[in-house]
Amino acid sequence: MNNFNFYNPTRIVFGQGQIAELTNLVPEDARVLVLFGGQSARKNGTLDEVLMALNGRHVEEFGGIEANPSYSTLMRAVEQIRQHELNYLLAVGGGSVIDGTKFVAAAVQCEGDAWQEILVNHATNIDKALPFGSVLTLPATGSEMNANSVITRYETHEKLAFSSPLVYPTFSILDPTKAYTLPPRQLANGVVDAFTHIMEQYLTYPVNAAVQDRFAEGLLQTLIEIGPSLLETPDDYDLQANFMWTATLALNGLIGAGVPQDWATHMIGHEITALHGLDHAQTLAILLPSVLHEQRTKKSDKLLQYAQRVWGLEDGSDDDRINLAITKTRDFFERMGVKTHLTDYQISADAIPAMVQQLEQHGLTQLGEHNDIDLEKSQHIIQASL
Ligand code: NZQ
Ligand code: ZN
Repeated sequence: MNNFNFYNPTRIVFGQGQIAELTNLVPEDARVLVLFGGQSARKNGTLDEVLMALNGRHVEEFGGIEANPSYSTLMRAVEQIRQHELNYLLAVGGGSVIDGTKFVAAAVQCEGDAWQEILVNHATNIDKALPFGSVLTLPATGSEMNANSVITRYETHEKLAFSSPLVYPTFSILDPTKAYTLPPRQLANGVVDAFTHIMEQYLTYPVNAAVQDRFAEGLLQTLIEIGPSLLETPDDYDLQANFMWTATLALNGLIGAGVPQDWATHMIGHEITALHGLDHAQTLAILLPSVLHEQRTKKSDKLLQYAQRVWGLEDGSDDDRINLAITKTRDFFERMGVKTHLTDYQISADAIPAMVQQLEQHGLTQLGEHNDIDLEKSQHIIQASL
């Protein structure tokens, strides 16, 4: 096992009815900005429940945070906070709202250019951020219990990530009933995103990290087991509860501690979203099978372990089992209703040079757990994903 330094200060308050706990979790004298997305939180009653639980505090609202949250929208929230001297943030939504809130928390106290300081310079010089909590409505990203955030600048087609220990949520409320209204596309996206997060940390090379491996395999198997049923019955409490907790554990640092990590699928995927507007999980479903295929030699030990322990594949040559494990991964994404080829989204070979150029522009020229996915390999991977 590799050395590691694991820190995760986020309190998780889990279960039906737990939004009422906000009254104990948010300081009584806080001046709160509640941030949310389009209409879902208002329509399904989550926002009302939140506002009721915050009763007695000074509360303002900021709605309209988009999927793939926009820098310019978020800077309007920063303005509102500064003008009205607000000092506590509460995100109500999915990954986009929580990521957006993390950016806002850091940007409010940033004296320089927020895009440059927080996203281009990866928040290295940021030393303070507003405290915030979250109420999760979409299990997928793990943003509710990690320190990552991904923000889009639409004018320049840039989607950049930052990470800072200052933006761990103080607490996150995970009430599975708040995910009942998710449409099939978002549920499927959530399953594919969580699945890929696990694979990015698990499917590399063995370092004798027995517990991390078994945890990762258990989380993958849980998603395979419950994913298709969730599409059928999104209002089944046990299914949603298991899904929500799996998605959180998939990216809260636990399974990634002490193991090599890949993240090539995500980095290339962000460029596809920035250029073509695909959902985050759609890009992952397209790219993950190709990344596994391209890197199959260096990943072979883990691919064989994955084939056996996750998919129960025992027969055939090593090559056969690896092929079948990759095929089963793709089939699972398709079964969830997420298409796995670029051409399914009307993107053809002539779009590839621009994607490679964006990777170069963002310095993403040494991806993967061996830093060996250069631009040429990325091009192969995208080409194989058509
Ligand atoms: O805007 P509203 O009306 O609220 O609708 C949202 C949105 O359109 C809807 N939704 C959310 N909860 C709902 C609901 N609809 C009905 N009922 C509910 N309970 O779902 C749509 C998508 O929401 P979004 O927050 O964009 O989805 P997700 O949670 O998948 O977040 C995606 C973003 O997270 C980033 C992605 O790049 C993308 O920008 N990621 C963040 C990560 C992190 N912080 O660690 C890691 C991930 O790899 C990822 O990159
Ligand atoms: Zn992701």
